[in-house]
Amino acid sequence: MDIRSTLFLCCLFFLNILLSQDLIIIESSEYAIVLKKDSLKRLQHVYFGSKASNLNEYRSIDKQLRFEVKDAADLPNHVYTPSGTWNTSEPALQILHSDKNPSTELEYKQHIKKNLGDGVSLSTITLVDPIYKTEVLLFYKVYHEENVFEQWSTIKNNEVQAIELKKYASANLYFRNNDFFLTQYHGAWGSEMQPETHLLTSGIKVLDSKLGTRSNLYAPPNFILSLDGIAKEDTGKVLLGSLAWSGNYRFDFEKDRFNNLRLIAGANNFAAEYKLGANQIFETPHFIYTYSEKGKNQASINMQRWSRKYRIHEGEGDRLTLLNNWEATHFNFNEKKIVALLDQAKEIGIDVFLLDDGWFGNKYPRNNDRNGLGDWEVNQNKLPNGLSNLIKKANKRGVKFGIWIEPEMVNPKSELYENHLDWVIRQPNRKEYYYRNQLVLDLSNPEVQNHVFGVFDNLFIENSNISFVKWDANSIIYNAYSEYLARNKLPQSHLYYEYVKGLYKVLERVREKYPKIPIMLCSGGGGRVDYGALQYFTEFWPSDNTNPLDRIFMHWEYSHFYPAIAMSSHVTNWNKESSIKFRVDVASIGKLGFDIEIDKLSEEEKEFCKQALLNYKSLQKSIWHGDMYRLQDPYENPIASIQYVNQEKTSSVVFSFLISQRFQTFYSNEPILFKGLDPKKKYEIEEINLFHREITEINQEATYSGEYLMKFGFNPIVTDKRKSVVLKINEITL
Ligand code: GLA
Repeated sequence: MDIRSTLFLCCLFFLNILLSQDLIIIESSEYAIVLKKDSLKRLQHVYFGSKASNLNEYRSIDKQLRFEVKDAADLPNHVYTPSGTWNTSEPALQILHSDKNPSTELEYKQHIKKNLGDGVSLSTITLVDPIYKTEVLLFYKVYHEENVFEQWSTIKNNEVQAIELKKYASANLYFRNNDFFLTQYHGAWGSEMQPETHLLTSGIKVLDSKLGTRSNLYAPPNFILSLDGIAKEDTGKVLLGSLAWSGNYRFDFEKDRFNNLRLIAGANNFAAEYKLGANQIFETPHFIYTYSEKGKNQASINMQRWSRKYRIHEGEGDRLTLLNNWEATHFNFNEKKIVALLDQAKEIGIDVFLLDDGWFGNKYPRNNDRNGLGDWEVNQNKLPNGLSNLIKKANKRGVKFGIWIEPEMVNPKSELYENHLDWVIRQPNRKEYYYRNQLVLDLSNPEVQNHVFGVFDNLFIENSNISFVKWDANSIIYNAYSEYLARNKLPQSHLYYEYVKGLYKVLERVREKYPKIPIMLCSGGGGRVDYGALQYFTEFWPSDNTNPLDRIFMHWEYSHFYPAIAMSSHVTNWNKESSIKFRVDVASIGKLGFDIEIDKLSEEEKEFCKQALLNYKSLQKSIWHGDMYRLQDPYENPIASIQYVNQEKTSSVVFSFLISQRFQTFYSNEPILFKGLDPKKKYEIEEINLFHREITEINQEATYSGEYLMKFGFNPIVTDKRKSVVLKINEITL
């Protein structure tokens, strides 16, 4: 190294030291969060946005801000707003100290940044209360290339007696802008992920869940925040946020007196005060977000890439196609019916057959959803030769075998309930309230954790060759009361938090022993999906509603946060009026599977399914591991269009669907602009998934540059005769 380079590096080093005295810079490849200490040692948010090319420029951002109003100590942009002293906004942290003093002050003490390798860094900031010595650590994990940030905090009680945490956020962010739009989601069984977008006005908008186990049912822990008007696909400042927590959550969006936005994200503190003993540390859930100044498509590409690489179990691995018997048989099956389905799975080339609900319970046979949940012995009447015989039969046909369980739950009509009443979450002195005739087991109790782990483990001990598990959880928590917490003189308000921690302990053990088994996260449809759970699961079930038209909209919304490889998507008889081609084409935009009696299909339909499965396998690199582009919005257009492109940009697939048949003369006139291709590469286009003897209407001989397809577009010719069109786009190499 010459003297000039050495001098330059030295200058950089000293500049960094200088900067680091009162500035904290947290940067990804494109964006930065800048924090600065004020004269009272309070750490403030001074910047959130695109990176500066010169670090030194961050130093004086605060000089342009007008937060420190004369004579007012109040500060809107604290990095972790405490309560009870100078603060008058929604707090991130609220503590009742052991002497019953409700105030907390947090002074900046230090920060360190570590490079964790693999494109990930972790900045840890220490804040301390000067009187009570409560120590708060704020963690900022940055996934550099993906521009994804993961934030959480820990709170340590340094008093000699217990303190009570009344609010304990994961993250407290601050955005400066003129207006903010929020897209939030709501739903119910069968109508998950309904978006609603609105302007945030002054005051506080709260999104939360109090369902205990499966917040996604009514309101998933995800949102889209846009900073310049309503979020658009390819322009504008967008933040996608998601709380990685399978329980109650709460997001506060507070538009303050400066017209800026304070965001506080974390576990819901509703009925959940936490008593923290001396020297104990409380860890919050993790809040995950990505930011883009190039619109929401880029933001969701960031999130999807991140989740495949760092979060979803085997996110960059392969998946199995499934035939499930639930829609085909419900509880009404026997060995003969199942063997017939195994034959059908083999006939069309499915990887794994999944035996759904109804295979267990003897004293209280599981013939409907009122009985037997919790009694995990094979039902002798339905399957007299046990599971292993079925597994053998499946394997003989070259089909793998998977099974459904719902180990966290119990029917009151079950031996489990009779023998272990103290394991059940229920009020001891009141009437029980049920959701789908069942109750939730108390996972705050380590004995129950062992039981739930055992349900999974025993299946594998007793039956070799189980290759897939569907883990369901259909009930929310009613009657929130834990016999275990009461017995151990712990507050009932710990239940919601300890339930989720208990669940994760079980899932840790499952994954330690069974790292390779694909497990689907299910919950009466999309009732439970979040990045806390997905680290243990390979996929999730977005909704029991498999009507292909509805699924296009749901997939569109889920795709902001989750990648196609994780979204189980099955062909069923919901909306039987639509053709099998339409249903298969729609299911192919996610992780394809079937939940249908294949022998009721015509020979042509079966042949089509077989070919479509082969086509799907040939597209996996794009659909499972590539980038997804939302080309044409189903809410605004009669034709919806979605594209996947592999990482090398050599292969792509575009799915187009007719959503509405109004004004038929117009809807197929316009080309659709493709995205994500290499403008310089040459491509050819082939229409696949053609039904029986159908002849394509597109010209498959022509070649196009990537630029042409992205600038002028391509017309897939979707008409009422061609309601779904699948185009495979391949690079031509001469
Ligand atoms: C839930 C699931 C379904 C099926 C049933 C079985 O509703 O979402 O797919 O497994 O449970 O009871």
